[in-house]
Amino acid sequence: MRIVYHEESKVFHLWNDKISYVMMVLPNGQLGQLYFGKRIHDREDLSDLLELAVRPMASCPFPGDRSFSLEHIKQELPSFGSGDYRSPAVEIAQKNGSRVSDFQFQSYHIEEGKPALPGLPATYTEDAKEASTLIIRLLDPVTNIRAELFYTIFAKEAVLARSVRYYNEGAEAVQLARAMSLCMDLPDCAYEWLQLSGAWARERHIKTRRLAMGIQSIGSLRGNSSHQHNPFMVLKRPSTTERQGEAIGFSFIYSGNFLIQAEVDAHDHTRVLVGIHPDTFSWKLEAGESFQTPEAVMVYTDEGLNGMSQTFHRLYQRRLARGKWRDQVRPILINNWEATYFDFTEDKLIQIARKAKECGVELFVLDDGWFGERNSDRAGLGDWIANPARLPQGIAGIAERIEGLGMKFGLWFEPEMVNEDSDLYRQHPDWILAAPQRAKSHGRYQYVLDFSRIEVVDAIYEMMAKILREAKVSYIKWDMNRSITECFSAGHLPERQGEVYHRYILGVYDLYERLTSEFPEILFESCASGGGRFDAGMLYYAPQGWVSDDTDAVERMKIQYGTSFCYPLSSMGSHVSMIPNHQVYRETPLHTRANVAYFGTFGYELDLNRLTETEIQEVKEQISFMKEYRGLLQFGTFYRLKSPFEGNEMSWMVVSEDKSTAIVGWYRVLNTVNGSYTRLRLEGLDPDFCYRSSQGGALCYGDELMNLGLCTTDATAGEVTAGQRPCTDFESRVYVLRAEQIHG
Ligand code: DGJ
Repeated sequence: MRIVYHEESKVFHLWNDKISYVMMVLPNGQLGQLYFGKRIHDREDLSDLLELAVRPMASCPFPGDRSFSLEHIKQELPSFGSGDYRSPAVEIAQKNGSRVSDFQFQSYHIEEGKPALPGLPATYTEDAKEASTLIIRLLDPVTNIRAELFYTIFAKEAVLARSVRYYNEGAEAVQLARAMSLCMDLPDCAYEWLQLSGAWARERHIKTRRLAMGIQSIGSLRGNSSHQHNPFMVLKRPSTTERQGEAIGFSFIYSGNFLIQAEVDAHDHTRVLVGIHPDTFSWKLEAGESFQTPEAVMVYTDEGLNGMSQTFHRLYQRRLARGKWRDQVRPILINNWEATYFDFTEDKLIQIARKAKECGVELFVLDDGWFGERNSDRAGLGDWIANPARLPQGIAGIAERIEGLGMKFGLWFEPEMVNEDSDLYRQHPDWILAAPQRAKSHGRYQYVLDFSRIEVVDAIYEMMAKILREAKVSYIKWDMNRSITECFSAGHLPERQGEVYHRYILGVYDLYERLTSEFPEILFESCASGGGRFDAGMLYYAPQGWVSDDTDAVERMKIQYGTSFCYPLSSMGSHVSMIPNHQVYRETPLHTRANVAYFGTFGYELDLNRLTETEIQEVKEQISFMKEYRGLLQFGTFYRLKSPFEGNEMSWMVVSEDKSTAIVGWYRVLNTVNGSYTRLRLEGLDPDFCYRSSQGGALCYGDELMNLGLCTTDATAGEVTAGQRPCTDFESRVYVLRAEQIHG
């Protein structure tokens, strides 16, 4: 990994074995983009990569030179008003009303490792040799706003992490009206855009479309990153598949309002912008103050979409997630939400826990309903004190009883919310986000607390920390069940109201930081009505997140498959639940529910007392299977093999680092009759190893399994013979492949 600056040609080149990133100081002093992609050789002068052309009607800064127009030049920090008519990366509203700015190169320096971003989640290094960071200083000479552009290149990964920090070195305050984290100008537009979108209970479905002239974008204006659009996008070549071809993945490490857009101009350049959504953002920067944008991460691959995802998985698993649980297999849990909803007593919970313990479950999670007057979703949020009618000895008491059974105890919170019917709201009605003289919209009968105010965060922290200091809590599920409306904070001046959405998220991060620092042993799982805030920002604090409120195995295939484009299996909260399923009323076999949930953190969302003895036996086997293989399932190399968005079958697999073990999950939605002979081509095996499958069959070389494929034909397709379990709709199988005989 190297970062060099060629003084003569004014070219920066960052590279490692996999990628190159090349920029130059343009003749007008601004910073231009020359190349991002597969590694290229370094040369003293790469400035010939700058594409200049005389174009009629273009605006040009140099009198008499019609070849240099910012309208056509690829840039790093394009600003408003410069003659570049594409969307800018920065816009500064000045006291005199002007929004024009012009960021000129000043200097640069290189740091080993990667500086932390104050108050924000970001990728990091543990050893300074893992990455180098180039910091380029630019200055707008009229306002004296300095921009520092951060570029971190990791030694071993095809990753570039970027952010921008603004300093007001002038005498007057300005409003930052737009401060994107990343601008990536690409030389062509021959890409397909891939996004992960959906809605509550069908999050992160894969949607693709061809890039076309004009702007295409995804984003959130809800205050949370949202169920609708994940802060992640891929530009892939049309010919790129899971197995081969070029793609660039863009991920935003942020949990609030965001914008990811690609603008194709009249000459087929593509400008990608990633950052805080400018529609709901403006930030007053007083003289002497600074503003740090969140981080955006770009991953380049020429090894297909699986290659891209594996890079994200390694990076986010090891250098974004933090803490004790980052590298540890996750406890198998049981959560009482779908088992009881609000209808429980302590004894009923203990009954559920006792049965779970008998089956081998390790952690009991008490979900919503344990506090204040919370007997339904209409009351209690904000009063983080155990309800003595349900829990006579409080949280400490039930935690003690669960520990007494030989299990760990976990607890649900929804820290950012308050019900009107709560002591907290009665004491502090002005602590919610609400606009003066306007109606206050409810969402799930609750208001959003104003986390842009430190005193609100302090109060919630104190209530939560008190419980965690007194009781043996090993896990927290942090929920968030509505988006922001009437965004206005009584704690901030009129000219600072544009900061509230971002300050809110900074408040959420602050609370997470305080709790994870004071209670480093606790495993945090993020949640927002399922997957409404499943993003890279959350992963920094909570190494796992509840993927979706939809626990149906068939729906989960799509949701987890889509989620895997950016996020590792160790981050995906996935449980076996009751049938008929509570979201779609579908009845899937117990083994299929588990076969889907294994590819995640695994747990149960039901009362095991309601299962038959035969089913309990099956659950016990599932749990011992997961205990044996969770290290591989959660931390192995993951491959998508067959997309549930493209047919009746879905398949994925994980492979151990030494390739001696692999687990393949195969799923079919509707049964077929008298079907074809089917094979599934595997990935990532050692071609020279011989693998034995847990489902029987011959000992096969890795090369056979990868080139011919694993036989998945049903023994019962068409006719069931004695001793065979018939396949039904929603059939699935898990194949464990172990290398037995290794040839040199
Ligand atoms: C939404 C979550 O996604 C559910 O799992 C559950 O915790 C409920 N909230 C509780 O209100």
